[in-house]
Amino acid sequence: MARRTDEPLVLGIETSCDETGVGIVRGHTLLADAVASSVDEHARFGGVVPEVASRAHLEAMVPTIQRALKDAGVSAKDLDGIAVTAGPGLAGALLVGVSAAKAYAYALGKPLYGVNHLASHICVDQLEHGALPEPTMALLVSGGHSSLLLAPDITADVRPLGSTIDDAAGEAFDKIARVLNLGFPGGPVIDRYAREGDPDAIRFPRGLTGPRDPIYDFSFSGLKTAVARWIEAKRAAGENVPVADVAASFQEAVVDVLTRKAVRACKDHGVDHLMIGGGVAANTRLRAMAERRCEDAGITLRVPRPKLCTDNGAMVAALGAEMVARGRASSSWDLSADSSLPVTESHVPGHGDGHGHGHGHGHGHDHDHFHELSKDNLYS
Ligand code: KG4
Ligand code: ZN
Repeated sequence: MARRTDEPLVLGIETSCDETGVGIVRGHTLLADAVASSVDEHARFGGVVPEVASRAHLEAMVPTIQRALKDAGVSAKDLDGIAVTAGPGLAGALLVGVSAAKAYAYALGKPLYGVNHLASHICVDQLEHGALPEPTMALLVSGGHSSLLLAPDITADVRPLGSTIDDAAGEAFDKIARVLNLGFPGGPVIDRYAREGDPDAIRFPRGLTGPRDPIYDFSFSGLKTAVARWIEAKRAAGENVPVADVAASFQEAVVDVLTRKAVRACKDHGVDHLMIGGGVAANTRLRAMAERRCEDAGITLRVPRPKLCTDNGAMVAALGAEMVARGRASSSWDLSADSSLPVTESHVPGHGDGHGHGHGHGHGHDHDHFHELSKDNLYS
C-alpha cells in the first residue's frame, strides 16, 4: 500500500517535446527543477525534429534525474511516487520518459503515475501560489496547444471549453518569427522585439471574434497569413520591414483574443480565478493584458513564473503529488505513452490488478476492455 500523505515527495519526468525535465516536489514545495533542452539542435530545422528529440532525451535522462536528486538533497528511496507525462506529445519522446519512469519505479518499488501534460501545466501553479481553487479556469497556451479548460478537480475532472481549430498560439509565434528571420523558438524573440514596437501600428485580424463564431475556440492561421502577406507586400515594394512594429502588432492580436476569451469564460461560468499556463504564458504582453482585464472583471489571475510555464519536470511532479495526496490509483506497469491522450484524462490509472502496488481501482476503459479481450482469448 502506498503511503498517503499531505506532502508527498514525488519525482516527475517530462519528455513530451524537446525538454528533458525532471522535477522533485514535496506537496506544493518545489525542491528541484532540472531541465536539459535539445532546442539548439532543432533551431536549424526551424522546428522540433521528433527523432532528434527522442535521442536527446535518451542521452539526458539519467544525468538529469541524478542532478534533480542532488539539487533536492533527497534520496530516491524516500520518494512517495514517480510521475511521468504519459501524453499528449511526441510519441517517441514520450516513450523515453515513460520507460525511464517505469524502470525507476519498478527498481525502487514506488508507485508510478502516468499523468497528462496539459493538467500538469495547470497544476504547476500550486508550486507558485499554493492550492488551486476549485474550480479553476485555465488558459493553456503552448507550442502544441491553445485551450480553455474548466477544472473542478485537476486530478479527475478537467473539462475542455474550447481550443484552437488550426495553429496553437506558440506555433503562430514560431511561424511569424520564421517569416521575420528571427530564429526558433519565436515566442521569446518576438516578445523582445515587440517591447520596442507599437502594438497599434498595424491592425491585424482577431480570429473567431465575430458574433457567430464559437465563443471559446481560437484560430491563428488567418492572422498568420495576414502578417505574412503584409510583410511580403513591404518586401515586394522594396521597403524595410519594421520588425518591432510587426512583432508588437502581431503579438497584440494574439494576446487580445486569448485574454478576451479567457475572461469571458470565467464570467460565463462564474469562476473568479484564471490560471494561465504553457510556454506562451511567459509572454510579457500576455501577462500584462491578462492582469489588467482580470482586475477590471474582478478575477484573480494566477500565472506561474516563466520557468514553470515552459515544459519542465516540476509540473509533472506537482500533479503526481496531487494524485498521491488524493489517493488516486497509480498506473499499471503496462502504462504506455499516448501521443493523443485526451485532456479529460488527468492521469492513466491502472486496471486494479497485476500492477505493482495493488491499491489501484482505476476506471481506464481501455484497460478494462483490453482485460476483457484477453480473458475471452484465454477461455474461448
Ligand atoms: O509549453 P512549451 O514549452 O512547450 C509545448 O508544450 O509546446 O511552449 C513552447 C512554446 C513555443 O512555441 C514558444 O515560442 C512559446 O512557447 N513561447 C513564447 C514565449 N516563450 C515561449 N511565446 C510568446 N512569448 C514568449 N515569451
Ligand atoms: Zn507544454
